[in-house]
Amino acid sequence: VTSFPVVGVVGGGQLARMMQPAAIGLGVRLRVLALEPDDSAAQVIPDVEIGDHRDVSALRQFAGRCDVVTFDHEHVPTEHLSVLHNEGVVLRPGPEALRHAQDKIVMRRRLTELGIPCPRWRVVHEVDEVADFARGLRSDEVVLKRPRGGYDGRGVWRVRPGDSLPAPGPLLAEEPVDFTRELAVLIARSPHGQAAAYPVVSSIQSDGICREVIAPAPSLLPDHAVSAQEIGLRIAGELGVVGILAVEMFDTAGGVLVNELAMRPHNSGHWTIEGAQTSQFEQHLRAVLDLPLGDTRAVAPYAVMVNVLGGTEKDVYGGYLHCMARDPALHIHAYGKEVRPGRKIGHVTALGSDLETTLSRARHAAAYLRGDDI
Ligand SMILES: Nc1ncnc2c1ncn2[C@@H]1O[C@H](COP(=O)(O)OP(=O)(O)OP(=O)(O)O)[C@@H](O)[C@H]1O
Ligand SMILES: [Mg+2]
Repeated sequence: VTSFPVVGVVGGGQLARMMQPAAIGLGVRLRVLALEPDDSAAQVIPDVEIGDHRDVSALRQFAGRCDVVTFDHEHVPTEHLSVLHNEGVVLRPGPEALRHAQDKIVMRRRLTELGIPCPRWRVVHEVDEVADFARGLRSDEVVLKRPRGGYDGRGVWRVRPGDSLPAPGPLLAEEPVDFTRELAVLIARSPHGQAAAYPVVSSIQSDGICREVIAPAPSLLPDHAVSAQEIGLRIAGELGVVGILAVEMFDTAGGVLVNELAMRPHNSGHWTIEGAQTSQFEQHLRAVLDLPLGDTRAVAPYAVMVNVLGGTEKDVYGGYLHCMARDPALHIHAYGKEVRPGRKIGHVTALGSDLETTLSRARHAAAYLRGDDI
C-alpha cells in the first residue's frame, strides 16, 4: 500500500470531489485542503485538512504530507506557490504555468507573444483609455475584465466609452467578439511531455455561467476543430502545463480565438466522466503522477452535459424519482452543496446518437431538478 502516492488537492470544491471516484479506482490516495469541513470535497475525502489556501504555513504543512500537490481552483497566491516550489514541493501544474490561469493580463501578453489568436486587447487604468481603445476598434462597447479572481462571469463587464470603470485598474479591455458560439478544448499534459487532446466541445453560457456543453461541438468546421486542438496543445507545451488544461475559445467566421485558460479539470469536461474512454478527473491524476495518459476518445456520438444551477427547488433529491424513472440512462451528479440561486450544485449528462433527443433529455432533467415550471 505504501507505494501508492498521495495526491494533495488544494481547494474543496466539486472538482476535487469528482477526483475522488477516479482516485478510488486507481487506489491513489487523495488529501484535500479545504476551507470548511462541509465543503463539497471535504464531505467525501476522509483525508481532509481544514486550512486556508491564502496562508503559506497552512499550505506548507499540507504539502509536507503529499507526494504531489494539485489544485481545485486558481486562487492560491502566486507568491506562495513560488515559495513552496523553491522549498521543493512538487506542484503540478507549477507556478510558472499557473500564473497564466491566475491573471488574464499575464495570459493575454504571453499568448500574444506566442502568436496565438486572441481578441484584440489592451490594459486600461482609466476611462480615457477605454474610450481610446473603443475608438480604435470602431466599437461603441468594450469588454472589461478584472485580471484576477473572477469566475462565472463575475469580474466581466460590457461598458460604453465614457462609463466609469466598474473596478479599480489595471483592467483587461477586450474587443466584444462577435462569435458564432463558444468552444472549449481540454488538453492533458504530463511532466515528461506526453499530451492528449479531447474532442472540441461547444459550451453555452448565459450571464457568464456555463449552462450546457455538447461534445463534440455540432457541425464544427473540421479546420476549426483541428486548429482548436492544435492551439490547445501548443499552449500546454509552451507554458509547460501539467495536468488538465482547459482552453475556452470563441468560434468566429475567421477562425477560433482564445478566451481564457484554466489549469485543472473544468466544467466543459464533465461530460467525459461517462462520455469518454478516460474521464478528465482520472486523466488529471494520471498527468500529475506522470503516468501514461488515457484514451481521450468519446464513447458515444454525442454527450450533452447540463449544469444544475440553484433554482426554486430546495429538495434536489426529491427530483430523482421522476428523472430516473423517465430516463434510466441519464447520469445525475450532485455536489453536496446547499441550494443558492444561480450556484452550480450539480450536473446531468446524457449520451446518445441523436443530438436533439440527447439535448432534450439532459435539459429536461436539469430543469426538473432545479424546480423550473416544466
Ligand atoms: N471579448 C469578449 N467578447 C464577447 N464576449 C465575451 C468576451 N470575453 C468574455 N465574454 C463572455 O463572458 C463570459 C465570461 O468571460 P470569462 O470566461 O473571461 O470570465 P470568467 O468569469 O473568468 O469565466 P469562468 O466562469 O470561465 O471562469 C464568456 O464565456 C463569454 O460569454
Ligand atoms: Mg470563462
